[in-house]
Parts: sequence; C-alpha cells; structure tokens
Amino acid sequence: MKKIIHFSDVHIGYEGMYERFRAVINHLAMIKQPAGNYVVLITGDIVDEASDQSYDLAKECLDKLTGHKYHVLIVPGNHDYGSGNCADKKWVTKFKKCFFGDQNISYPKLDIIDEMAFIGLDSMAKELGTVDRLLANGELGTVQLKKLDDILNTKKRKDCQKTIIYLHHHPMDPIPLHELKDAKKLAAILSKYVRKDDKKKGIDAVLFGHLHLGKKSNGWCDIQRVYDAGATTMKDGSPGFHRVIDLDLPPVYDYDADCHGEYASVTRLPLLKTFLELLGSRK
Ligand SMILES: [Fe+2]
Ligand SMILES: [Fe+2]
Repeated sequence: MKKIIHFSDVHIGYEGMYERFRAVINHLAMIKQPAGNYVVLITGDIVDEASDQSYDLAKECLDKLTGHKYHVLIVPGNHDYGSGNCADKKWVTKFKKCFFGDQNISYPKLDIIDEMAFIGLDSMAKELGTVDRLLANGELGTVQLKKLDDILNTKKRKDCQKTIIYLHHHPMDPIPLHELKDAKKLAAILSKYVRKDDKKKGIDAVLFGHLHLGKKSNGWCDIQRVYDAGATTMKDGSPGFHRVIDLDLPPVYDYDADCHGEYASVTRLPLLKTFLELLGSRK
C-alpha cells in the first residue's frame, strides 16, 4: 500500500513560494524513494492568485513531481480560482485543463490506487455565484455531497482497503468568512461510514488545508486521521511540514518530514536573532 505525503497551500506566485516549493520537491526526491511508494496529495491553493503565469509555474512543479515518478493528486482552493477573496468561474475549466489535462473531470473525483480509494472534493463548487464568489468561504453543495454519498456506497469503493477524503476548506474550527459552509452536512455523510459495521468500509483519513494551521483533529466523525497540512511553503511564517501518512500503521506512526532544507534555516534565523537581541538587551 502506498504512503501519502500531504502538501497544501503552496501559494505559487507569492514572493519566494515557487523557489521554496522547488526546493521541497528536490529534497523530497532525495529522501523519499522509491517514489512509486508514495502518493503526493495537494489540498488546494497551489497558486496564490489565478493567472496563466502562476498556473504555468505550478504545472511545472507538478510535472517535476510526476517526472520523479510520484503519483500526484490535487484539488482546487479559493486562491486557485481567483485572488482568494474573489473567485471567477472562468478559472474552473482552466484549472481542470492545466492540472488534469481534461476539462470534463468532475468532483467528487475518485482515484483507486493500490486498493486505496482517494476521493477529491471541490470546496469551491458552490462559491462561484454573484455573491458567493466573494470572501474565502467554501461550500461543497448538495449535488456534490449526494454524489459523495453515492460513491461511498459503491462496491468498488467498499472493496478498497482504505478510503481517503481530501478537500481544501477546513471542515471544523469555523473561522468567520473562511468556514466550509456545509461542514455539518459533510460530517453527517461521513459519520454514516464509521467502521462499526463490517459490511461498510469506513473512512480512514480526511485531509485538508486552507487555514494554514497544521492542526490534527483526529476523532472528528470518529475518523482516525483528520489533518490540516499547514502551508507547505510556510507562507508568511505558517507551519509548513510535509506529513507522511502510512495507513497500514496507527496514526502515532505518521510523522512530519522536513523537506525545506536551507529555506527552513532562512526562516528560523530571524527568530533566533531576535531572541539573542532580547537576551543582549537584558544585560
Ligand atoms: Fe492558503
Ligand atoms: Fe485557502
């Protein structure tokens, strides 16, 4: 069974993030081999602001990952469809064409890899209307939620050893103007598939980003792994690690790899300097 490397909120196009992500990919390719043992899962905000140029840079990075033979899965975030606070539906088709090579793909997007069912959701699906497109909320919508329930109920999905749900918006800890509006409806569906009944295979992980908190909320809906990946490129000092998840083992064995290399020391040095200056001022 493949291990999962969870990336999120890369924000390519924001100053320095492209360079950091390239460094992360280089370090990942050095330390996580053979690449075919891993699925790299990116839970949205791959770019900081939708534009042809930022899409091209992000695609170049994803091609580098696939060139190293990692299997890559991605879902869109609010920044992928606009500025982050204002989305434009014209980017939906462009995103699909650029990152999936197919403008007709739809969500939930089911990929079965080595008997693992990966189900990607678009939490921007209902955030593209005249008013909804403003601000940074997410909403899956009733149509997508119904399809999710249908997919979870299929024999094909239940025959899989593991099921992973991934989306951009944080489904708990609502922060005003950033919340997933239909989080309770999502929770109601996922709760139906708790692994109490042998006839129903449960949900093994829910993975997301958006708030850049890097927090674990394991136990939500009785699901063992519920992870916010932080911001892989540490945008504006956000927690940025590279969580490695092995669903063959209990969650305590998951760990946060550090693929930042020199960038980690660049970002930490000012804190050390400030600390030393504070010590100096006390003398
Ligand atoms: Fe973000
Ligand atoms: Fe976001």
